[in-house]
Amino acid sequence: MLQYGVNDAALYDSYATGVRGDVEFHVSMARLANGPVIEMGCGTGRILIPIASEGVDITGVDREQAMLDIAERKVADEKPKGKVKLMKGDLRTFRSEVPYSLIIVAYRTFLHLTEPGSMRQALNTMRENLAPDGRLILSFFDPSIEFMVEYIGPIEANPIKTVRRFDHPVSDRPVVMSNRRSVNPESQLVTTESIFEEVGTQITVVPLTLRYVFRYEMEHLLELCGLQPEALYGDFSRGPYRYGGEQIWVARKIAT
Ligand SMILES: C[S@@+](CC[C@H](N)C(=O)[O-])C[C@H]1O[C@@H](n2cnc3c(N)ncnc32)[C@H](O)[C@@H]1O
Repeated sequence: MLQYGVNDAALYDSYATGVRGDVEFHVSMARLANGPVIEMGCGTGRILIPIASEGVDITGVDREQAMLDIAERKVADEKPKGKVKLMKGDLRTFRSEVPYSLIIVAYRTFLHLTEPGSMRQALNTMRENLAPDGRLILSFFDPSIEFMVEYIGPIEANPIKTVRRFDHPVSDRPVVMSNRRSVNPESQLVTTESIFEEVGTQITVVPLTLRYVFRYEMEHLLELCGLQPEALYGDFSRGPYRYGGEQIWVARKIAT
């Protein structure tokens, strides 16, 4: 089963509730943008729709049709004030027709780029898509050594933990969500196997691998790709960076 496929996409809004303040932060940045706004990896529109509701026109790109279909339905139901354009595409290769004043890559989407070189490829592409005075916002968790130590080793050897309970958005039956994890410090990969048990019927198992990124690794990666970090926040209230919190990068294009 693939992450963000039909079964899992239907459950996404029930379990992916974001990081405290992330919606408000992105809405405020979008309101300040002096031109077109795009979210890469927009998913079901958790951030994109509140931005559009503030009257900001926004484009959303995602590589999973099942996620875009849900976003499309929510846009049709909620009728936000701003115009929404949804497109299937990959953030490593998506070339926009217009330069963007703000590009958003929220909630760990950037960490989905696990193949060597793919983060650089995505950053180079997004720099090309930015207006000269545009901004790129990237946000994801800051890896903590304590977290890594807990999950080092093969996934089968690690315990399954119940993380959430909710009602299935379609069948209304209770769903128990559990997961188990594995961290590989050599490849900087963390794999999470999410297990959704729709009580009395089916079990869906969804693996997801993310590549965690350290603070100075990210700073160097941005600079290598012609992007100048303007701010690094540790939370969505714009607090300072702190170990084990969030990495929230705001970067500008370096003039060439
Ligand atoms: C953790 S979800 C975040 C969704 C949404 N931004 C949010 O905050 O709820 C990651 C999303 O990124 C998408 N994604 C992952 N890799 C991608 C890629 N290379 N190009 C475009 N979208 C990608 C997934 O399909 C998924 O919808």
